[in-house]
Amino acid sequence: MSGNARPFEEHPNFVDAWAEMEKLLETGKVRSIGVSNFSINNLEILLQHAKVGPVNNQVEVHPCHPQYDLKQYCDNKGILLSAYSPLGQGNPLFFSDPDFAKVANDHAVTPAQVAVSWLVERGIPTLVKSSKVDRMKANITFVKLTPEEMRTIDGIHKKPGMHLSLLTPYHTSDGIWLGWTYEQLGWPMTAGGILRN
Ligand SMILES: NC(=O)c1ccc[n+]([C@@H]2O[C@H](COP(=O)([O-])OP(=O)(O)OC[C@H]3O[C@@H](n4cnc5c(N)ncnc54)[C@H](OP(=O)(O)O)[C@@H]3O)[C@@H](O)[C@H]2O)c1
Repeated sequence: MSGNARPFEEHPNFVDAWAEMEKLLETGKVRSIGVSNFSINNLEILLQHAKVGPVNNQVEVHPCHPQYDLKQYCDNKGILLSAYSPLGQGNPLFFSDPDFAKVANDHAVTPAQVAVSWLVERGIPTLVKSSKVDRMKANITFVKLTPEEMRTIDGIHKKPGMHLSLLTPYHTSDGIWLGWTYEQLGWPMTAGGILRN
């Protein structure tokens, strides 16, 4: 994204971009195409126009932004929801939640392993990044969480101050994310990336 989003009515918009991407499938050189940061609202618009639906929608997902509605929607449409920034891009607010920390403690693993394991258990492929080899290895060494532990982590976002995007540097105080308003993005947020429900 350029940082200067156009109104949807102006062209080229994401529907136009998608039509160009569909042409790549016809070349045989590209097997599948997907999107990133698409909300239910924007997927609805895209699917009305698309000849071929996206195979994947890559979005921010972690215990403070669990994306339950979007996951359900993507499951119903046959779109694979995948997670970026599962550790809040180095701002893992939920690591300090005592219930979350207890799960990591009980399994004698790192909070990062619990975060990734919770996503994997939900059927969400996860892109986790580290510059350190030992962390890279540990981060993809999963732990089997019990149903009760899953429920505990599922509910962390309901605690005060815990339901938000953790990519704070990208959210402006007047509710713009990389040049897009939350309305354009279809994200249920208020200024600073705070989630409404
Ligand atoms: N589609 C999109 O719009 C989009 C947006 C953002 C990101 N992404 C992609 O998603 C992937 C990962 O996202 P990300 O880098 O934003 O976020 P992330 O994986 O949530 O966080 C990376 C940060 O977490 C730290 N970290 C890694 N392992 C840790 C551990 N075990 N304990 C504590 N801290 C740990 C890393 O520091 P160290 O390096 O010091 O370990 C780094 O600062 C990347 O491949 C990125 O390209 C996609």
